[in-house]
Amino acid sequence: MSVHVTPFALKDAPALIERLLPVQKLSAEAYKEQMAVQGKTLTALGSYWKGRKPLILNKACILGCLLPATADAVRDLEIFEMLMAMDDESFVVRWKRCPKPKEILAKLSIERITDYFVVEPEEILEIAAPVDWSNPEYAEVKVTWREDISELERRRLEAQMLPRAPYRDRVDQAQRPEEVLETVHNHIWDAVNAHLGTNAQSLTDLVAQLGLMRFGHRPKLADTFCGSGQIPFEAARLGCDVYASDLNPVACMLTWGAFNIVGGSETSRESLARDQLDLVGRIQADVQKLGVESDGKGWRAKVFLYCMEARCPQSGWTVPLLPTRVVHNGQRVIAELVPDPIHKRYSIQIRTGVSAEEMAAAETGTLGREGKFGEAYLLHQVDETIYKTKISTLRGDYQKPDGTVGNRLRLWDKLDFMPRSDDLLQERLYCVQWYQRKKSGKGEEYEFRSVTKEDLRREQVVQGYIHEHLAKWQAEGWVPDMRIEVGGPPRYQGLDLVRARGWTHWHHLFNPRQLLVAGLVNQYSDARLKFPLTQLLNSSSKLSRWLPDSAGQVKGTFDNQALNTIFNYGSRSAFFAADLLTMTYKNFDCSSVQKTVRNIPADQIDTPCDLFITDPPYGDAVKYEEILDFFIAWLRRNPPTEFADWVWDSRRSLAIKGEDEDFRRSMVAAYKRMTECMPENGIQFIMFTHQSGSIWADMANIVWASGLQVTAAWYVVTETESALRQGSNVKGTVLLVLRKRRGLQKTTRDDLAWEIQEEVQKQVDSLAGLNQEAKGLYRDENVFEDADIQMAGYAAALRVLTRYAVIDGRDMTAEAIRPRVKGETTFVDSLIVFAVDTANQCLVPQGIPQAHWDRLGGAERFYLKLLDMEARGAKTLDNYQNFAKAFKVHDFKPLLASQKANDARLKSAVEFGRAEMSEGSELHQSVLRSVLYAVMELVNNVDGNEVLAHLTLNIANYYGDMTQRELAVELADYLAKRLAGLRPEEASAARVLRELVKNQRLG
Ligand SMILES: C[S@@+](CC[C@H](N)C(=O)[O-])C[C@H]1O[C@@H](n2cnc3c(N)ncnc32)[C@H](O)[C@@H]1O
Repeated sequence: MSVHVTPFALKDAPALIERLLPVQKLSAEAYKEQMAVQGKTLTALGSYWKGRKPLILNKACILGCLLPATADAVRDLEIFEMLMAMDDESFVVRWKRCPKPKEILAKLSIERITDYFVVEPEEILEIAAPVDWSNPEYAEVKVTWREDISELERRRLEAQMLPRAPYRDRVDQAQRPEEVLETVHNHIWDAVNAHLGTNAQSLTDLVAQLGLMRFGHRPKLADTFCGSGQIPFEAARLGCDVYASDLNPVACMLTWGAFNIVGGSETSRESLARDQLDLVGRIQADVQKLGVESDGKGWRAKVFLYCMEARCPQSGWTVPLLPTRVVHNGQRVIAELVPDPIHKRYSIQIRTGVSAEEMAAAETGTLGREGKFGEAYLLHQVDETIYKTKISTLRGDYQKPDGTVGNRLRLWDKLDFMPRSDDLLQERLYCVQWYQRKKSGKGEEYEFRSVTKEDLRREQVVQGYIHEHLAKWQAEGWVPDMRIEVGGPPRYQGLDLVRARGWTHWHHLFNPRQLLVAGLVNQYSDARLKFPLTQLLNSSSKLSRWLPDSAGQVKGTFDNQALNTIFNYGSRSAFFAADLLTMTYKNFDCSSVQKTVRNIPADQIDTPCDLFITDPPYGDAVKYEEILDFFIAWLRRNPPTEFADWVWDSRRSLAIKGEDEDFRRSMVAAYKRMTECMPENGIQFIMFTHQSGSIWADMANIVWASGLQVTAAWYVVTETESALRQGSNVKGTVLLVLRKRRGLQKTTRDDLAWEIQEEVQKQVDSLAGLNQEAKGLYRDENVFEDADIQMAGYAAALRVLTRYAVIDGRDMTAEAIRPRVKGETTFVDSLIVFAVDTANQCLVPQGIPQAHWDRLGGAERFYLKLLDMEARGAKTLDNYQNFAKAFKVHDFKPLLASQKANDARLKSAVEFGRAEMSEGSELHQSVLRSVLYAVMELVNNVDGNEVLAHLTLNIANYYGDMTQRELAVELADYLAKRLAGLRPEEASAARVLRELVKNQRLG
């Protein structure tokens, strides 16, 4: 069938994402991708980058913007899920193992086996399956798929073999769609084309055709805060032309790498692999010439371990600063400190294969800490005396007249590259890990050894080399000469480097060996080979932790959130660096689309684009402009041609940060400019991490002032397991869909009230309806959970609000950028509060009449709503956080029995006991609290009459206001129903209470 798509046929069609998005499934997929850590597609280019937005989420956003929302929402959802490889038939490919025909016949009921399979010898089997293969007659039977069976038919059958697990579990077991991209979509095109009127055979075909139908050409997407390039890369992979820009040159470089290395053509990849090997060869040859990494007996150095060393002011001894003396767990290696009383110092003996007791004793080094975050101190013993000195005392910390802290550390010079002999803090090589090929020729063997005189001589060779070359290398730009500029609050990145070590320039974070290897790599590398350079810098600096776990690893500098100094570290040899320098990258050829990378502030874009998907800096998340100087320092003086037009400076003053006035002003400038570069039917998409309560007002202001209007909002949980483990601060991403605001619509606040209510209700009904209609598609799971519906409710409210340019005679664009006076509630703030309140009013759990709901306090609503969600299996803490904000619960923690990120739970009536009854509580004197109290008493077998007597006392105006009593009955009934599966004993008590109150004789 040949179908021609008509340009602009979808010009004004609403986008699918403006109506629906399978957020629950998407959260599961995004989570899976985040958990892949090093297996993520672009990570090999720069594992140090923080806050990558999952590619699968970006894909959903891009497709969701291009696809139309049709009159058939369920089919739209179905097609979208096919394109996202979320459908059953795609899981057949995503599943790690494909069932064999015989396995299918053993399990499934199939009316006529020969409809699908060829059986040899013919007619030996029964006509229908299942087949009992234990029958000895079938021993020689062969079964193969019929060749005329379509891909779809085959997958449909195979899909029936998949375990019927909840979606999240299924995703957990399966591969990610991008891991099977070549084949995963093969079965969908007939269905997709029939629904959309396209004739695509691949995602890139489809994107090109949808672009033509919407914009008249292949869609062009921009991301002006591109960071590591996750959004524009996904867009290019899907077949969009892309424009990416960022203020930070390291971000631009990563995006360039995503396009040109991971997205490079196959031939470019082959030449890269060759060049990587050449690079390694050159470096190793140079190092070999110096003879500083081999012991002369066939062993090569893998890792050099260094520690700080300082003189204990009390004992006069010079002591190595080691948080632990364990060197390696697997081989049971420890560092033993052997006192040398004559020189008042320690020699360090490395011992391998020690006893378990010795390993345990070696856990304690010479550094202790008062509590987890307390100050570090030096601890050592001479004869019977134990000496303990705070590190701050060692450094000679003192308070300056201006209140800041100074110390006696010497500040290093530009040409320093190691401590001077009279510096307070020295650095010392204390162990070398060596390796050689095994005699058998298979694999390698490793040894940890004490430092010998020969090792020290080799150290001197390296030091001499750096001494001789540093000035020239700095002038050439092969090693840094850039000063460390300390960052601002709240993290003051870089301050610790200066204050705790006296380092003033970025090359001070590298020892002579590290400078040697990285300096050589920098000299010999072109644009593509700068990626291994940055990976090497990350994995071999004085902030690279040595982990004595079984593999023995040097960790990345950026494995930590902050640039904080450490006391001992691992330094990779040139030979060990080869691992990083020859890293292989994934390959998705995107060479057929246009890609632009620019290093400019977001508000300077001048390129027309159809779609803008951005993930701007928000709140106190990562301070890119402070931490990336670590790399900029290495690249700024001599960048390769491809990066030469970029400003190799973090331009902190231009970076958008914080949440205050400046933040809003810069965001408005950026989004206004983007809106100007967007056609009338273009779509904007803002992603941000939902942390602050004031976010809705901030975003509404930005949207208004930029000439945009909200059309939808979604919430996707994107945190990883490790983030979850850190405790209660669960993070998700809010997706805000925006269009240009058209015309100059005016309204009044009174009219808005009705309009918002209507729109929110319509939105809530539509998503709840879709939940029902998609039951078949979703088995027992919901497309949308309550939190999603709540978010969509907010979006609906914002949709109405931001549609208007003038409200109550006020120009909203001007209102939105009016500077705030601290503590003042602006007109916009009050509108947002009003809109969000209206949205919350619509989220009444089933079983509670609206009239009663309206009378409940925030904490009561919170408890009832969350109980409803718990009854349906919801457990994540972010629900509690979000709804606490929604219902304006000041502190929801006293209402919770568990605050675990993935296993949160409300307190039961019994767990409340007598708590939360008094005046300070947000449940004080509430009907709900009184009812829970009564349930607790009934569970504890208190006499019914007594329970009733207490209830009548606890509920204010019980006899005066009959509705209080009615509410108590309703709440008891509600608890009975919701608790039936959760806490049957309390459910039964609640039923008893309901009857007691109902049948109570009054008067
Ligand atoms: C949250 S990150 C984007 C992360 C990206 N989506 C990813 O997945 O890696 C925000 C980016 O905005 C950049 N940025 C900050 N201020 C900027 C400005 N004024 N103009 C352009 N980019 C800016 C930062 O350098 C950072 O890379």
